[in-house]
Parts: sequence; C-alpha cells; structure tokens
Amino acid sequence: MWNDAWKTTTEYDSSLGFSHFLDGFRDVRSFLCESLPVRWKEKYGPVGLVAGASEGLGAAYAEALASRGLDLILIARRADVLEDVAARLRDTYSVQVECHPMDLAQPDLANRLEAITAVHRIGVGIYNAAYAPVRGFLDSDPADLEHILNVNARGPLIFARIVGAQLTAHGHGGLVFMSSLAGFQGTPRLATYAGTKAFNTVLAEGLWHELSCQGVDVLVSCAGAIRTPRYADIAGKEAPGTLDAKVVAEQTLDALGRGPRVVPGIFNRMVSVLMSRWLPRRTAIGIMAKNTQDLG
Ligand SMILES: NC(=O)c1ccc[n+]([C@@H]2O[C@H](COP(=O)([O-])OP(=O)(O)OC[C@H]3O[C@@H](n4cnc5c(N)ncnc54)[C@H](OP(=O)(O)O)[C@@H]3O)[C@@H](O)[C@H]2O)c1
Repeated sequence: MWNDAWKTTTEYDSSLGFSHFLDGFRDVRSFLCESLPVRWKEKYGPVGLVAGASEGLGAAYAEALASRGLDLILIARRADVLEDVAARLRDTYSVQVECHPMDLAQPDLANRLEAITAVHRIGVGIYNAAYAPVRGFLDSDPADLEHILNVNARGPLIFARIVGAQLTAHGHGGLVFMSSLAGFQGTPRLATYAGTKAFNTVLAEGLWHELSCQGVDVLVSCAGAIRTPRYADIAGKEAPGTLDAKVVAEQTLDALGRGPRVVPGIFNRMVSVLMSRWLPRRTAIGIMAKNTQDLG
C-alpha cells in the first residue's frame, strides 16, 4: 500500500513537476520570443541605417532590422530598386522606411551621411556595400582599383566616423561591417577586394574595443559565399557552405554585442579556423587561387 501510495504520489508529483517545468519553459520561451525584438529595439533602435540595401545581403539586413521593429534609412545607387525594397518592408512590417539614393564612392559621402544623422537618431549602422570585380591585378583599370578602395574602405571609414559619433553621443547602439573569408589571406584575382575586407575586419576589431566603453557594440561579419544576385553572376556553381542572405543577416545581428567578429555558418567557421590557423599561409593562398580561377 505504501508502495502504491508512494508510487502514485511520486508519479503525480513528478508529472506535476514536469508539467510545471514545461509551463516554465513555455513561459521563458514566449517571454524571450516576445521581448527579444523589443529589447533589441531598445538597444539598437529607433532607426537602422543600411548602406548598400537594394538587393542581396543588404536587403536581407533591412528586412531583419524591420522584423525587429526598427525604422529604416536605406542607401544604394539604384533608386527604383531601393524603393521596391522599402515599399515591401513598409507593407510587411509597418515600419517607416526612407530611401537615400547615392553613390558611396563619391567625395561628398561625409556631408551626405551628416545630413542623415542630423535628422535621424540612428541606433544601428550597417555598412554592407562592396565592389568586387574578379580580375588579375595588373589587368585592372587603375580607376577601377580606386573605386574598390572608395566603396570598400574609404566608405566604411567615413561611415564609422559619422555614425559612430552619433552612437557614442547617445551612449548606445551598434555598428556592423561586412567582411569576407577572402580577407583572411591573400586572394588572387580578388587581391584588392580581399585587402579591403582585411581592412574592414581589423578596423572593426579596433573599434569594437575602443567604442565598447562608450556603450557602442561593433561587429565584423566575415562571411563565406552568400546566395546573392552578385554572387550568382560571378560564380558558375555554389561553393560548399553557401548560405542564404537571410541566414547571414540574422546570425550577424544576433552576434552584435557578443564579441568583435562573427563567421556565419558552422562550415564557414571551420574553414576560417583551417585557413587562418592550421594551414601554412602559402597553402591557404593557393586554395584561394584555385577557388577564384573560374570566377567572373
Ligand atoms: N555574396 C557573397 O558571396 C559574399 C561573400 C562574402 C562577403 N560578402 C560581402 O557581403 C556584402 C554584400 O554582398 P552582396 O553579394 O549582397 O553585394 P552586392 O550585390 O555587390 O551589392 C551590395 C549592395 O551594395 C550596393 N552598392 C554597391 N556599390 C555601391 C555604391 N558605390 N554606392 C552605393 N551602394 C552601392 C548595391 O546596390 P546598387 O547597385 O543599387 O548601388 C547593393 O545593394 C559585401 O560587403 C560583400 O563583400 C559577400
């Protein structure tokens, strides 16, 4: 009888305990699901600024920010394509979206960005735009090489200075830079692009430390191949580990505030360790040469 009573009580208690545990788990999960975007918005809102937002990863960043409740300022050169992205996000997420068509390589970039931060309270700035022509270095037009520098290095530098100043003045916010696994070592036929990506990685890591004491989170996302229109144009077939733009955008935003650098995708994280720590440098560069020989 005692046995039965004990068994019944224990079964009852343990099932009660288990169901309480499940209820608790559900409460925590729904608390997190409901409040994460709210807390993210408090920390990185009210407005997200995305440079290079008309397609591919930039459009995915814009959508990820809108889904977290942020209003948006979107920059790219093609006004009509940018406006299509903006219209879709306004309809889907009921957020305010303003488009600023401009060329980030132009000398007036600082003035254009200052005009934006004078009017809008940016909480997170993402510099996503890049120019990546696949060509032998000495076969490249000098003006084209300078364009790579302007879009991929001068642009993020000015962006960091102007958006960073606004974020530190308010004592919180985030800055995100886009880099690439190509920036971890020399990359033949993409040598200048890879050099600018290394610049973004190292710039962001320095700023991560420097701005953290002023409440600003800085992050560099070192991505492998991403399914974007630009990547589809230059690659004949997908590289192993290729990710959807949405996955890269979400994993990057989730990593903001958790360290200086993220490599989206587990396969790409393994590749990054292999290439930057285990393989001799000349072997890593040789692998990149094989990867880029058929691109373009
Ligand atoms: N795709 C990949 O496999 C891959 C891999 C690793 C890293 N990444 C990095 O991820 C980022 C996005 O890649 P993606 O493939 O989506 O790039 P993308 O298609 O070449 O374009 C990025 C965006 O930047 C804009 N843009 C380009 N030049 C601009 C300029 N001068 N002024 C203003 N906007 C400009 C483009 O719009 P407009 O043409 O309308 O101006 C587009 O919206 C880049 O930083 C890239 O280096 C990509």
